[in-house]
Amino acid sequence: MCGISGVVGLKNISQLLFEGIKNLEYRGYDSCGVAMMNKTHLIIKKDVGEVEEVYRKHNILQQKSNIGIAHTRWATHGKVNQNNTHPFTSVDGNFAVVHNGIISNYHKLRDQLNKEGYKFVSETDTEVIAHLLQKFFKKNRNIEKALVRTLNLIEGTFALAFICTYLPDHIFCAKRESPLMLGVGDEIKFVGSDFNAFIDYTKNAVILDDGEYAIISRDSFTVKNVLNGEEIIKPITKIEWDSETSKKGGYPHYMLKEIYEQPQTISNALDLENSNLDQVVKMFAKAESSYFLGVGTTFYVAKYAQYIFSELTQKHIPPISSDEFLSLANVNKKTLVFAMSQSGETFDTSSALKYSRSKGAKTAAIVNVMGSSIARMVDEVILQGSGPEICVISTKAALSQMVILTLLAMKLGLKDKVITKKTYQGHLESLKELPGIIQGILNERSGFIHRLANKHCKNKNWLYLGRGIYYPIALESALKMKEVAYVHAEGMPGGFLKHGTLAMIDDDVSSIVFVPPEEKKDLYQSTIHSIEEIRARSGFVLGIHFNEQGKNHQLFSEELILPNVPSLIAPLIQLVIGQLFAYFTATSLKRNVDKPRSLAKSVTVG
Ligand code: G6P
Repeated sequence: MCGISGVVGLKNISQLLFEGIKNLEYRGYDSCGVAMMNKTHLIIKKDVGEVEEVYRKHNILQQKSNIGIAHTRWATHGKVNQNNTHPFTSVDGNFAVVHNGIISNYHKLRDQLNKEGYKFVSETDTEVIAHLLQKFFKKNRNIEKALVRTLNLIEGTFALAFICTYLPDHIFCAKRESPLMLGVGDEIKFVGSDFNAFIDYTKNAVILDDGEYAIISRDSFTVKNVLNGEEIIKPITKIEWDSETSKKGGYPHYMLKEIYEQPQTISNALDLENSNLDQVVKMFAKAESSYFLGVGTTFYVAKYAQYIFSELTQKHIPPISSDEFLSLANVNKKTLVFAMSQSGETFDTSSALKYSRSKGAKTAAIVNVMGSSIARMVDEVILQGSGPEICVISTKAALSQMVILTLLAMKLGLKDKVITKKTYQGHLESLKELPGIIQGILNERSGFIHRLANKHCKNKNWLYLGRGIYYPIALESALKMKEVAYVHAEGMPGGFLKHGTLAMIDDDVSSIVFVPPEEKKDLYQSTIHSIEEIRARSGFVLGIHFNEQGKNHQLFSEELILPNVPSLIAPLIQLVIGQLFAYFTATSLKRNVDKPRSLAKSVTVG
């Protein structure tokens, strides 16, 4: 959701700025722009397109400067065109601003500034910031004061950075609700939406909090409180992630790389068995009511959690999509709100958590990005340790969250005596088999799934069906297909078919059915029944099942047969098939896999 990168150093930072903004491209990629300083003049280059494209077109790497800020945009206010691309300059050309978030009172500010003669060139909310800085600077010739006055006037959410000709060796930045951090190197300082902006150059980060602003120069950084102007001594956070894990490492796309990393990330998740999970289990046990919270993929993770908790514990915990939380949830001091978030920055999820905290509820979360807003905000955080997930489409992070939630359910079930120690041990053994089984599937089945996806990539509509805990798997797999291949896909519980959807079955609607192992008798039978209902109407069915006994051409139009596995992990394995099928459909359709249209990894606006 827009990326901000800035560098100030001793020598030419052009290449570093490029790398920084390129590494943030998963946050948005409609358009890109930079502002650098040529002695006392600002150089602004910006255009529609991806970072590399814009850099090439405008020869940006040829520009030499020891200071610069850059932005990659995910449009919220105003069309995707050059005028609406950041950075924005003040009318006098002395301030250049980049911004992530939404200035909610920009209409009012814009009208006022217009009346005062400030000419706007874009339709964006951000441009008001540049003009306000000029206006307030004119009054007392003090940049810091102009920044503070601007911050006190703008409403909404923002992470912003600017450079100006009056102090050409400094970057000014501030944040409220949108993420921003500093990178602290020797004789070089960075600012970025997250540490991918500078991880190749320094692992020392300073995470800015709401209501703070910072001024950085080559050899110093100062953080202050907007309200009272007092300096804040901020701790340095050591980034533990290795920058190499953020590279594509020979894979054609991050999405494929991250799918292939899952045996490792699941092992990392299982290593958490003896971490703070028991603490979180106690919170579930103590709470009189609980909610699972997430949005997009993590909402489907939350749905998976609902099923696994219903199966293994006495708790029925409703999942709520974070954006609907305020309308649905009823929280008080005895409520636990448990969130899932890969980025730890998703606006809807953090807003729901903030609201819950304001009502006295306890909060906990599974988060992938350490130091992120949600990780710092909740009472108890489980850091899932999946490493950087760069592809906009979430794969490894979601699967690891499901594994952790299974562990939590097992622990709570054991505590509440819903399952025995023996069952617990058996489930743990099953989970431990998961990395190896997934590795085998990746090695042996990817080619087949690739051919299958290629053959059916022109299908216009997919119904993804699953019953019980396979329903969230169907939902999440359908979402993958929509996100990355732009193919219409709908996830649905099998039982729903006969309440209207069967009428849609024709040559243009194909179905994918996640069939549970046969030992799950009732679930298996009812799933087969759904397939028969479709086949009776001559509908196409791709069956993903564990029945190794042999092919069943009458039941399925196509089938993907998986090895027999313990039923606890069967849905998780099928999710990997859903991921691969979406990935290969997208590559067959020549989609922009790692940067699909109209999507951003970290949705930091409401
Ligand atoms: C966006 C991303 C999805 C992600 C969702 C929630 O929609 O494109 O991949 O699942 O946000 O993000 P979070 O970081 O909170 O898991």
